Amino acid sequence: MVEALEEPIKTPDKVKEKTIKIVAFLCNWCSYAGADTAGVARLKQPYDFRIIRIPCSGRLNLLYPLRAFFDGADGVLISGCHPGDCHYVEGNYYARRRLEVLKNFLPFLGIEPDRFKYTWISATEGSKWQETITQFTQRIHELGPLSIKREKVDAE
Ligand code: FES
Repeated sequence: MVEALEEPIKTPDKVKEKTIKIVAFLCNWCSYAGADTAGVARLKQPYDFRIIRIPCSGRLNLLYPLRAFFDGADGVLISGCHPGDCHYVEGNYYARRRLEVLKNFLPFLGIEPDRFKYTWISATEGSKWQETITQFTQRIHELGPLSIKREKVDAE
């Protein structure tokens, strides 16, 4: 028999004041499974992020995170397999170079680098996912909503 939660989860007042949006691009083979592991283990997680599952971090077009920012995201997190564990051998090595370039480019667009993070989380690291998304979400709440001139970025 499934037991009810002891007490309902309430939205903290601070969060009600500032609604933020976080987009997380997670590689299907490691980080998405890691987030799933956290869910299966019922580890508490923030609720103001949305996951987009991608085949590999190396498959991420850099215009996707930019598009997320310009379409309303206040923070973007990208996570893939640990270096050396990519299921497509070297996809995350390519990703690491590109993502570092993007991170350095963001201030030129008026976006604080802290609003962008990339990391590596394996399928068994549910607690690392919980810790990462919690810290990232807290930081975005501290920064508040992103205020940039929102213009459409064409990813094609
Ligand atoms: S398959 Fe996960 S980063 Fe490449």
